[in-house]
Amino acid sequence: MPLHIDPLHIDVVTLFPQMFAAISECGISGRAFARGQAELQLWNPRDFTTDNHRTADDRPYGGGPGMVMLAEPLAAALGAARARQQGVGVIAPHRVYLSPQGRTLDHALVMELAARPGLILLAGRYEGVDQRLLDEQIDEYISIGDYVLSGGELAAMVVIDAVVRQLPGVLGDADSAQQDSFVNGLLDYPHYTRPEVYRGVSVPAVLMGGNHALIQRWRLQQSLLLTRRYRPDLLARRSMSAAEISLLAECRQDDQPD
Ligand code: ADE
Repeated sequence: MPLHIDPLHIDVVTLFPQMFAAISECGISGRAFARGQAELQLWNPRDFTTDNHRTADDRPYGGGPGMVMLAEPLAAALGAARARQQGVGVIAPHRVYLSPQGRTLDHALVMELAARPGLILLAGRYEGVDQRLLDEQIDEYISIGDYVLSGGELAAMVVIDAVVRQLPGVLGDADSAQQDSFVNGLLDYPHYTRPEVYRGVSVPAVLMGGNHALIQRWRLQQSLLLTRRYRPDLLARRSMSAAEISLLAECRQDDQPD
């Protein structure tokens, strides 16, 4: 009797579930899903909106380009994904946000993910997801490299493809035989949109004040702090203006970004 191996349970929260046909229907990953070696469930946050327009994003507090994904529909979609995983016995699925700010995907990380019983992947648009949702719901950020995609979907598919092919029995003998830099060289600053207070957490006061010079200064400082904290190699490769040096100097080496 063959040893029974539980499938890896993967749930993805995405505004574009149709993109995932590329991995669920094709190639080695498609075969693994068809055989039940992994399971894929897709959740569209639009299906969890409560207004007639099915609004899933809104303009950023503090101004600036692009839209920010609303916390509430994402929280509901992530909750549904978590409930599904718990229903099949995965008590604490690992929750991942695909983002250029994350840990860079490499073989060691792929193997760590493949060893987990369940994954929930959140694919956002690059402009951002309300930071409070991420702070509350995400265990780990993962990046697939130092470039900007239009959304997290392709990155999620890269992660899924790389992980699924490492699952026991997925690669047959035949398969195993062949076995823009960041815009300003810094990590992104945190984003916030409605509501003003989400689960008791307020948007940083500076973003509500309407002083655009102050907002710009705060964002640059946040970017510098995040970069110094998480990617000091990027700072080392980049020359800094006098203004940036003084923004960083305002904060001690061990200061946390907001
Ligand atoms: N979303 C946008 N760009 C990304 C990247 N490089 N890695 C992961 N998710 C992303």
